[in-house]
Amino acid sequence: MADGRERTETMDIAIRPMKPGEEIAASALVERVFREFVAADCLPEGVEEFTRYVQPEMLSLRLQMGYFVLLALAGQDESPPDGRIVGVIETRTFDHISLLFVDDRFHRQGIARALLTHALSICQRERPEVARIDVNSSLYAVGAYERMGFRQSAPFQERNGIRFVPMALEVAGPHSAQADTE
Ligand SMILES: CC(C)(COP(=O)(O)OP(=O)(O)OC[C@H]1O[C@@H](n2cnc3c(N)ncnc32)[C@H](O)[C@@H]1OP(=O)(O)O)[C@@H](O)C(=O)NCCC(=O)NCCS
Repeated sequence: MADGRERTETMDIAIRPMKPGEEIAASALVERVFREFVAADCLPEGVEEFTRYVQPEMLSLRLQMGYFVLLALAGQDESPPDGRIVGVIETRTFDHISLLFVDDRFHRQGIARALLTHALSICQRERPEVARIDVNSSLYAVGAYERMGFRQSAPFQERNGIRFVPMALEVAGPHSAQADTE
């Protein structure tokens, strides 16, 4: 499943694990989208903290620490050979989403939902006992996470200059990313 191509509402994309060497492009996408949509809601030290967190070497390091990264790729003819990176999701310990970023030129085309669905299937395969997936949502993304079945789980917070809303998705019950499409 994590290697197949699939059709979102409007486009064909491939979703698969990040390969060695792709950290630079993945990091660049996340950092650019963060600066455009999220940075304004953070303090300057939060922008610095996040920028450090998404450096390519940090993405690589975390892969050895129980995290995994999936990429969404579009346009098979473009460079790199199996498409250009249009979305990134990173999860920690199969129960927490630590990054979810989509190229703004491809927003609202189902890419985040497709990434989340693939990530959830891996989480449930690796840790079937997990009943709840958490995320510290940017202020910008709260509405999107709600549409994907997440609910606020704690009050708005600020940590190290980064402002976020704790949210959670019950994965054992009816509110899955796939089910909550009403
Ligand atoms: C949040 C983000 C990842 C969503 O990506 P996307 O690919 O556009 O999302 P999708 O197209 O898969 O949309 C999923 C659902 O959320 C809804 N949605 C998407 N963006 C939304 C927004 N800004 N406000 C409200 N709902 C939104 C979609 O309509 C869809 O719901 P539906 O299927 O019921 O219609 C993207 O806007 C992004 O990268 N934002 C900036 C970075 C960020 O804040 N990331 C979160 C960090 S925790």
